Amino acid sequence: MHIHILTLFPNMFTGPFGESIIKRAIDNGLVDIEIYNIRDYTYDRHHVVDDYPYGGGPGMVLKPEPLFAAVEAVKGASEMPVLLLTPQGRLFDQRVAEEHAKYKEMILICGHYEGVDERVREHLVTDEISIGDYILSGGELAAMVVVDALVRQLPGALGSEESVRDDSHTCGTLEYPQYTRPHSFRGWDVPDVLLSGNHGEIASWRREQSLRRTIKRRPDLLGRVELSDRDKILVAHIEREED
Ligand code: ADE
Repeated sequence: MHIHILTLFPNMFTGPFGESIIKRAIDNGLVDIEIYNIRDYTYDRHHVVDDYPYGGGPGMVLKPEPLFAAVEAVKGASEMPVLLLTPQGRLFDQRVAEEHAKYKEMILICGHYEGVDERVREHLVTDEISIGDYILSGGELAAMVVVDALVRQLPGALGSEESVRDDSHTCGTLEYPQYTRPHSFRGWDVPDVLLSGNHGEIASWRREQSLRRTIKRRPDLLGRVELSDRDKILVAHIEREED
């Protein structure tokens, strides 16, 4: 995978991309991440990237020329998705992450200031992405979130001790509770079933816990998951208990 990131603050990416799973994926050649300073694509003496909004109002708007120049320079003759990080975008979730993890190459544009000239949205960008219903100071942190969610899906990105399989949201429900040693901590014991060695019982305990947690914390997710007949019985049972 090849990810190009256009930003006014390239240094923001140094820490997050220099650690842990993303760093290892880069070192192992699974992903190539290139950061471009939008200011390098200005052709005026003062390297102006933003200007006052036509029609008045507060804040500054990112000018179209540097963004078009940067995207065109990066793309060359190739076609690839051009994503704009903005609170007005499509809400990013695991499904959107999985959709985008299929692309071999993409461009992420980090918006800043009050906004981006509308012609960028209309004629340059292929998709707008929001990571949640809150306003960040810019698209950089959002781009890092998107990159992390994509990179960890690449085959080989996770070590054997990490797993993508049971993650909350990959299967549509929240993850079951996990325990490690010690068996007893301050008088709080690990549930017996996890020490039973009975894999069937452990799996059904985990499924039940996962469903309980989802019903309690994120009932909105349940409508979107595929439930087995056994799950449906469990859900009915849990819901009766709650009443
Ligand atoms: N830029 C500012 N806020 C954002 C958000 N919530 N998601 C994506 N980009 C943003």
